Amino acid sequence: LKTQVGIVGGGPAGLMLSHLLSKSGIDNIVVEKRDHETIRTTHRAGILEHGSVRMLTETGVSDRVLTEGYRHEGIDLRFGGESHRIDFEDLVGESVWLYPQNEVFTDLAAARERDHGDVRYGVSETSVTDLATDTPKILFTDSNGRDFEIHCDILVGSDGSGGICKRSIPKEARTDNFIEYPFAWFGILTKAAPSAPELIYANSDRGFALISQRNDSVQRMYFQCDPNEDAGAWSEDRIWDELQARVDGPDGFELTRGPIFEKTVLKFRSYVCEPLRYGNLFLAGDAGHTVPPTGAKGLNLALADVKVLFEAIDSFYATKSPDLLDGYSDKALQRVWRAQNFSYWMTSMLHTRTDASPFERKRALGELSGVVSSRHGSAYLAEAYTGWPHD
Ligand code: DHB
Repeated sequence: LKTQVGIVGGGPAGLMLSHLLSKSGIDNIVVEKRDHETIRTTHRAGILEHGSVRMLTETGVSDRVLTEGYRHEGIDLRFGGESHRIDFEDLVGESVWLYPQNEVFTDLAAARERDHGDVRYGVSETSVTDLATDTPKILFTDSNGRDFEIHCDILVGSDGSGGICKRSIPKEARTDNFIEYPFAWFGILTKAAPSAPELIYANSDRGFALISQRNDSVQRMYFQCDPNEDAGAWSEDRIWDELQARVDGPDGFELTRGPIFEKTVLKFRSYVCEPLRYGNLFLAGDAGHTVPPTGAKGLNLALADVKVLFEAIDSFYATKSPDLLDGYSDKALQRVWRAQNFSYWMTSMLHTRTDASPFERKRALGELSGVVSSRHGSAYLAEAYTGWPHD
């Protein structure tokens, strides 16, 4: 097979890039190891920046985010048992949309099918070679057991944090920047009415909790747990009691309980591969960097990478000049490091270390109180959360 751009990974980043390239008349093929149904039913993030929403709607993927998603004009920071609203619209004139990643994938996959895009799900034995040459290649076995080789001009690795593309870059040609956190999230999905109209990021002596939503009858919630926590050891009552204890306060706020139909422990860390390029291989999304989930930045960063990378590839084919491609890594990394800082800050400010000293606890509450009582502090949070401008 021959194509202009070969894309490894058919999650939101890979499919969005494929969509934009095809619209611009640039030939591309996507290979993805999972099948469509597995990706569609894997629960991931839930918040889209306004820039991500615009990418979906203005490039003709779908308007479903506007009709099925929920626009949120703020969040609550809750600590010391009291809620403090961060009003995004008032502070920075922007909003975010609650629209789960599964739906983003569903819309992108449907748009690729509608536009006759070449996306091959369920492939195996994928490898990438000749990365530093003018004809990098993707080798894979398709879902019918047939072996293929794709010859391309440009290869894009959008194959997630455990993907093969990053690992195909020689160790001496990349710097792996990472930190681990002593935290994980216990995530649940419950069949219940919403407990609150907007997201609540709660700090408590017992640890962090996040009250999120999905729709009128399904809710998403998380609470900080030990990275080695066994989800099976938690009964529904124990989960609800723990979540409730973390949002308890004098205002009597009470979670609306319901049957829990999914429980998962999510470990997290911060990672950035530098540069996001080796030869003619370019990394986008989680394949090149991961953030802890606390600022809801992962999916949004992936789409922001894709926007920069698409413009670079488009310019390369239109002008034959590699200038924008050469600038891709630096440009994408600027936003990545800003988002790393924001995610690190939200994580450290809102979580509670089990070994925290009284000084550390009170300092953390001082930080939260400083943020919510300062228009400037709140505005920084609002600006970062709703998303820095794409250009
Ligand atoms: C959700 C996940 C996040 O990491 C976050 O910061 C906000 C919402 C969610 O899954 O709803």
